[in-house]
Amino acid sequence: MARKKRAQSPPLAVIILAAGQGKRMRSDLPKVLQPLAGRPLLKHVIDTALSLQPAATCIVYGHGGEQVRAALSAEPVEWVLQAQRLGTGHAVSQAMPRIADDQLVLVLYGDVPLVRRQTLDELLQLAGPRRVALLTMLPEDPTGYGRIVRNTRGQVQRIIEHQDAGKQQLRIREANTGIVAAPARLLKKWLKALRNDNSQGEYYLTDIIAMAVRERIPVLPMVVSSAEVVGVNDKAQLAQVEALHRQRINRELLLAGVTIADPSRCDVRGTLLHGEDVFIDVGVVLEGTVRLGNRVRVGPYCVVRNSEIGEETCVFGHCIIDSADIGANCLIGPFARLRPAAVLGQGVHIGNFVEVKNSRMGGDSKANHLAYVGDAQLGSRVNIGAGTIIANYDGAHKNRTTIGDDVHTGSNSVLVAPMTVGAGATIAAGSTVVKEVPPGGLTVARARQLTIADWRRPVKPKK
Ligand code: UD1
Ligand code: CA
Repeated sequence: MARKKRAQSPPLAVIILAAGQGKRMRSDLPKVLQPLAGRPLLKHVIDTALSLQPAATCIVYGHGGEQVRAALSAEPVEWVLQAQRLGTGHAVSQAMPRIADDQLVLVLYGDVPLVRRQTLDELLQLAGPRRVALLTMLPEDPTGYGRIVRNTRGQVQRIIEHQDAGKQQLRIREANTGIVAAPARLLKKWLKALRNDNSQGEYYLTDIIAMAVRERIPVLPMVVSSAEVVGVNDKAQLAQVEALHRQRINRELLLAGVTIADPSRCDVRGTLLHGEDVFIDVGVVLEGTVRLGNRVRVGPYCVVRNSEIGEETCVFGHCIIDSADIGANCLIGPFARLRPAAVLGQGVHIGNFVEVKNSRMGGDSKANHLAYVGDAQLGSRVNIGAGTIIANYDGAHKNRTTIGDDVHTGSNSVLVAPMTVGAGATIAAGSTVVKEVPPGGLTVARARQLTIADWRRPVKPKK
């Protein structure tokens, strides 16, 4: 994607307002840490901000926001405390000492997570050392929002907050998104001049618009779809934003050639890297970084997290795959569980109710039913019989098992680790092996079958 570089324009400083308490979330988790597609709301905004390559990024957090700061301490941003919540203008002024006069300031919101980089790029094109750019919207219902007052020539004159608006002004449909870009030198001056003599007793950031107009500084509006600037105040809006995000991500994937059975029932909470003709059935959740090779099929109701799945592999329904590396042409599931460090070669089959953890399985090995493979290294063409358990844990240590090529384990066998099974060995059904199994041959480790011919079954005494 060709990115227009804002080469000639002044360096950028982004201020993200995040001092809200979010009481309406009815949650112990601060609002901006509520997850959207698996990441905190604020993390989405930070990522969008950083994609603009700003010279500085400041987050204004509030009283009790230490949890927010701690959760995102790895982010390359500056944290600015707004000790008292005195309004959006006051919040922005807390960050201004960190910002050089020649910078362009972009104000974003920690609870407005869907705004796109492209939109902000366009907005920043409109702003400059002597120009303010204002992002506006035309919501179905503008109740509660600040209204954009324009003159007869369509020029923006001021923003009037809903609470301060008269009857005429309340009829204005164009509303303030809150997102604005302004030159730091002028912004600093305007913020100092803000007064709180309004119905809410707050220092409104929005009042800088009238100040700019008075100084003949052009205010250039840009209208954006209101879906892109939905704010999140409660769980209903959180779900709405999640749905919009899902739509956006899945549309990109569909246009990139991924077949998604129902885009309203597939959640990508991270990054999906994919080959051609990938098919994803309903109810699939993909988390972290997931790589799907060409023609991979993921069946209904699977969860795949931080894993790679090779070409042509088919994952049947209801599998949980976490931090696994699956080769090409494998068959997985239904109802299989691949846990961290499960590494499967080509053509491996993992069937129903099979769990594989921290184990390598060589090419064409199979565990088709009801088995546990943990802390093991399997060769190629190994057949793990139904009910085979690798007993890797003695209550204190995880012990390793090595199984050679072409080994077959019988149904219901237990391999007590540490264990080595030589290539080509067959373990009889029902065996509990505790000593090294030599290559080839049949190893039987179970009580011998005997029949007591003259045995009498007890009978109930007659009443
Ligand atoms: C603000 C705008 C309004 C706009 C609306 C869009 C002002 C005065 N009004 O109104 O024109 O239509 O957003 O949603 O700017 N915040 C702080 N510290 C504060 C106050 C607010 O960090 O002292 C943060 C909040 O956490 C929130 C954002 O700023 O993320 C907006 O604050 P809020 O009080 O919700 O503003 P609105 O009244 O909705
Ligand atoms: Ca609000």
